[in-house]
Amino acid sequence: MTRSTPLRLAMVLAILGYAGYAAHAAAQAEQKAQNLKVLAPDIPRQQLLAIMNGFTRALGVRCNYCHVGEEGQPHRPEDFAKDDKPAKNKARIMMRMTQDLNDKYLTQIEGRATPPVHVQCVTCHHGAPQPRTLQDVLQTSYDQGGIDSTVARYQALRDRYYGRFTYDFGEVPLADVAGHVREAGHPEDAARLLALNVEMNPKSAFARRQDASATLFMAFAGGNADSGRAAYRRLSDKYGPTVVSEEVVNNVGYQLLGSGKTAPAVAAFQLEVSEHPDSGNAYDSLGEAYAAAGDRKHAIEAYTKALELDPKNDNARQKLGELKSSKKGSKTKKK
Ligand code: HEC
Ligand code: HEC
Repeated sequence: MTRSTPLRLAMVLAILGYAGYAAHAAAQAEQKAQNLKVLAPDIPRQQLLAIMNGFTRALGVRCNYCHVGEEGQPHRPEDFAKDDKPAKNKARIMMRMTQDLNDKYLTQIEGRATPPVHVQCVTCHHGAPQPRTLQDVLQTSYDQGGIDSTVARYQALRDRYYGRFTYDFGEVPLADVAGHVREAGHPEDAARLLALNVEMNPKSAFARRQDASATLFMAFAGGNADSGRAAYRRLSDKYGPTVVSEEVVNNVGYQLLGSGKTAPAVAAFQLEVSEHPDSGNAYDSLGEAYAAAGDRKHAIEAYTKALELDPKNDNARQKLGELKSSKKGSKTKKK
């Protein structure tokens, strides 16, 4: 006769030294929860613990994020019932909210996805206690500590979370933050974030283009056309003409123009024209920059050329008309 399976399992556990564990688990299984306000008070122990394990994974934390207890020390069973940690009470609100989302709102949707999608903690939390985007985390870092701490924060988060689903380490977030930083008047910091973006996403054409734009902008914005042209050469060698395209140079010119840097904008469009001599658009842009600089003569020349290259360019025709008729020149200010 063979022996019954449970006995053999118990023997194996004993041999492996698991007997204590098995006894502990059995004791836990009998223990009744003392302080459940959201879950059913008579919920089976295994089910309760499965939910708790789900919380830790969804938020990327340990039990002691919500429960009293010292790191590295075993929890005393009675501690789990205590409500001392604010996170535990927040979690209760979250449990009710999640339940409402599923029961009150999603059930109202007609023609739901099949099988229906249920909102879970992980749907929002993605392995972090506070469900923020990488953009938000980095922007806060920047506002509080400047560029160095932002770069450090990015590296630290990447070391910890890369390959997981908590943050997007693709080409977009750094570019987004760089955009805000530039708009807030810190183009150097923005350029640094975009260089980091290329370093982290070396195959991304998007990241390269953004880096090229920022570098070019900085080089021209200083007011030295030579350093602008030198940067253009360097970037063209590094990234190639499809990345450092006419469009990129054109956009940089308009960014300069838009930020009141008229002479640098003229220099950028001059570069565009010399690199793309058949582009009517390049001459049109150059004309606009000359006009903004109050250089009527060169503006007329550039618009004439633009019209010659593209007779359908109504904007150039109109601007040319305006410039020619304002002969005595109300726009005489030179920058
Ligand atoms: C995100 C916060 C959070 C995390 C992390 C978490 N818990 Fe809980 N836990 C709760 C909340 C909230 C309750 C109370 C639920 C209620 O009121 O219905 C609870 C209740 C319990 C209870 C019942 C206590 C009692 O007697 O009333 C046990 C046991 C428990 N948790 C164990 C664990 C274990 C073990 C872990 C780690 C694997 C864990 N919890 C991780 C939030 C958390
Ligand atoms: C619909 C999205 C969503 C779902 C689903 C969700 N949460 Fe949250 N959770 C949030 C947001 C947003 C915050 C930040 C609230 C704030 O501004 O402090 C948060 C904060 C928390 C916090 C506080 C974190 C801290 O330390 O600041 C805990 C704990 C938490 N959630 C637990 C849970 C648990 C457990 C579940 C599943 C039962 C859950 N959440 C489901 C969106 C969600």
